[in-house]
Amino acid sequence: MRYAEPGRGGDVRPDTPGPGGRPLRVHFATSEVYPLVKVGGLGDVAQALPKSLAQRGHQVELFLPRYTGLPAGEPVAELAVTAGSVRATLQVADQGRYDGVRYYTVGPTGPVPWNRPEGYVEKDLASFVLFSRALALLATRDGWRPDAVHCNDWHVGHLPAYLRTLDAECRSVLTIHNLAYQGLFPQTKASELGLTAYGTGNLLAQGIRYADVVTTVSERYRDETLSPLRGCGLDELLRSRGDDYQGVLNGVDYDQFDPATDSHLPAGYDVDDMAGKAVCKAELQRASGLPTEPDRPLVAFVGRLVKQKGVELLLEHIDELADLDVQLVVVGRGERFERTFARAARFHPNLAFHPDSGEAIARLTYAGSDLFLAPSEFEPCGLAPLIALRYGSVPVVRRVGGMAQTVADTGLGFSFADGDRSGLLTAVRESVTRQRGDRGWTRLRDRAMRARFTWDEAAARYERLYRPPARPASSANADEQPERYR
Ligand code: GLC
Repeated sequence: MRYAEPGRGGDVRPDTPGPGGRPLRVHFATSEVYPLVKVGGLGDVAQALPKSLAQRGHQVELFLPRYTGLPAGEPVAELAVTAGSVRATLQVADQGRYDGVRYYTVGPTGPVPWNRPEGYVEKDLASFVLFSRALALLATRDGWRPDAVHCNDWHVGHLPAYLRTLDAECRSVLTIHNLAYQGLFPQTKASELGLTAYGTGNLLAQGIRYADVVTTVSERYRDETLSPLRGCGLDELLRSRGDDYQGVLNGVDYDQFDPATDSHLPAGYDVDDMAGKAVCKAELQRASGLPTEPDRPLVAFVGRLVKQKGVELLLEHIDELADLDVQLVVVGRGERFERTFARAARFHPNLAFHPDSGEAIARLTYAGSDLFLAPSEFEPCGLAPLIALRYGSVPVVRRVGGMAQTVADTGLGFSFADGDRSGLLTAVRESVTRQRGDRGWTRLRDRAMRARFTWDEAAARYERLYRPPARPASSANADEQPERYR
């Protein structure tokens, strides 16, 4: 679905651009953006945060690699990029304006664009190094110079490091959406791409070391990543950044995720008129081959079927969950787990499995379910349970990362402790009992639906980070240059 055609979707509002005055020009570098390319939560963030910044009066330009299948766009600049022995001419092409934000693709001029990302697989390192260098060069070019470059995840981890070597005047902000993926490369590749001067064979680590500011997507996950348990080998480096490593909680785009207007749903609803939710539930039951039983609690999981999402814990308890008097709907893709869920669904008549990562079934499942499972082993923010709240599907989460902060601490849903193997089952039992007996259920669901985690608040935080600090930077590495350039 293309929700906003270029040129449509709200031009920049001449709002006051927050404290600090003048509007900023921001280059937003990302490997995905919904709806053009979406792998996971980063795609939603890349759509919503620039939009929110634009609504606050800033000029935001978004840069995406030119993958196979994307339109060629309107060429606006060409850059000669070198990385070690690799040379390429990369073209910047205008892809139009979405929600007040100009989108560009950057990629080879020839007929062979870069591969599309398949899940969160770390490959195509060379393409991302070239992409990063192109954006760094652009940031120093007349007519383009931004105040800040906002880099997202390992794909553009090299960008802040390379910016330093160019003596660019703009600020660099690196946001970590998932510390588990780092863009690792062997020594031979490092030499080939001329990266040996930047320290470790790890693109994310380069970004953490050289960005002016590093953020991750919730305060709680920030704190967790400072310990060896959740630091994925980078905790020491993260600790070394002190206050220049911050947590900024993601928001939800409540225009995008609104059960009253969601075009994927057979009927709209909102907290004051819930009739449509019953229609959505019946439709989800039908689409899942489950009996249409309005009063039977419907428990759902929507997400990538990977270890991080707690799929192993879910499978460990799948028989016991199916033995509860509920209906279970699991939606997601992920090779090895797909087979196991498919088998479980054949065995349990009240369990349905959709091996699908499409937006349509995801939205119907948020809307048609009563409870939403998020048993993730770790979760930097966890947008899915926040979206579930809005659709009146009460989350049951493991108390980790962003979910501990947004769902457990606020009492907006049910939760279980990390390390409690039977916690998931206990929490689901408790929530089902609450739902059945309506012991405060309606009140709980209403609170969930009314809760707001807005992008505007996050955008205001980033805005401050994009501006140079008034005081000289306190961080030890403020003047650090990659070795070769000292
Ligand atoms: C990643 C994280 C998820 C977060 C999303 C957007 O997918 O795993 O927790 O919500 O990025 O920041």
